[in-house]
Amino acid sequence: MHLFHYQDNQLYCEQAKVDEIAQDVDTPFYLYSQGTILDHYKKLDTALADIWHLICYSLKSNSNMAVCKTLAKQGSGADVVSGGELFRALRAGISAEKIVFAGVGKTDSEISYALKSDIFIFNVESMSEAHAINRIAGKLGKKAKIALRINPDVDADTHKHITTGKKENKFGLAIDNALDYYKEAGSLPNLIVSGVHAHIGSQIVTTDPYVKSIGKLTNLVYKLRDAGIEIETLNIGGGLGIIYKEETPSTARDFANAVLPLIKPTGCKLIMEPGRFIIGNAGIMVTKVVYIKKTDAKTFVIVDAGMNDLIRPALYNSYHAISPVNIESSEEMVVDVVGPICESADCFAKERSISKVNEGDLLAIFSAGAYGFVMSSNYNSRPRIPEVMVKDDKHYIVRQRETYEDLITGESVPEDIV
Ligand SMILES: Cc1ncc(COP(=O)(O)O)c(C=O)c1O
Repeated sequence: MHLFHYQDNQLYCEQAKVDEIAQDVDTPFYLYSQGTILDHYKKLDTALADIWHLICYSLKSNSNMAVCKTLAKQGSGADVVSGGELFRALRAGISAEKIVFAGVGKTDSEISYALKSDIFIFNVESMSEAHAINRIAGKLGKKAKIALRINPDVDADTHKHITTGKKENKFGLAIDNALDYYKEAGSLPNLIVSGVHAHIGSQIVTTDPYVKSIGKLTNLVYKLRDAGIEIETLNIGGGLGIIYKEETPSTARDFANAVLPLIKPTGCKLIMEPGRFIIGNAGIMVTKVVYIKKTDAKTFVIVDAGMNDLIRPALYNSYHAISPVNIESSEEMVVDVVGPICESADCFAKERSISKVNEGDLLAIFSAGAYGFVMSSNYNSRPRIPEVMVKDDKHYIVRQRETYEDLITGESVPEDIV
């Protein structure tokens, strides 16, 4: 579900007209629907109501402070993977005891920051990391709660770049050796080993991979208990898929029906780390057609947003629906929608039939809320674009467009070198 809809061929976000927002903020920009974010969060929260659970919103999908605060107010926790994300989560008012910290390369300073902040739990990805956390906790006079991130060797049946739970992926610790890893971690004096964590991938549209993975994880929980290692929390990661094109992803309810019967008997507290499910379809990118260029081979619709603003199509070959903000013609045209960047990969759609547009028209690129702005860059020295949030019929700029001055902030050219 999302609250972007056409009325009389004009695109609305909730009750706000997208072309009026564009007049106010100029293009390109990201546009988020707060009502959609809330709806997605509540759907999952309600579906999991039968069991003690904590939803830790995955900040990597979209860490805008207005998004984080919206979720913090609902009682959401946070899944963070860097000191910067931890800073954002805390600043947004997400309480430290609801923050989980994953990532294969946590540095000493990030671990120390997390320990001093008294976060809930570290999702530990290697035994070297377990030793590092133990060492730093000792120095700080703290005990660190940890879960081991287990790689269950399950195929998430998704794009290879967003599969994370196979043996050959860099994430987590092999399930076959998990008992030994838990024993080793348990012997470290400054660690409290209390959880099992896994995240098998992203954009997973069926329940099957979860059922397989959770089946393996719950077996592990029983095995650990038999060995005298008490496990309190089971974190099953994020990954719930959304509709980009014609997918039919399982609903929150389907998901809960499939996995809760496996988890409940363990008595574990359930943690989930959704990102895309909450924010993916709650955001679009709005861009303007700068030129239409016809060659012998193709028609190119050249827009003012580039792969530096939304890299998913270039990086994953991912599909995003594209439509004019105001549909003015019933005619269709087959085009490549491309950006201005000096890379052939700077392409949002190839040979796509879209409603006819003219130079100066606005296009909406849908399902851009997750892994959109957060993956944007200044490539080609392009200022990063604003983020705007709609609540009902009002819009709010929740991140300003960068300026040319911003582009060189922090740079210095010492006289000695020029
Ligand atoms: C450990 C972890 N948890 C949660 C997520 C969020 O995934 P998604 O946005 O697909 O829900 C990711 C994404 O890469 C992740 O690596």
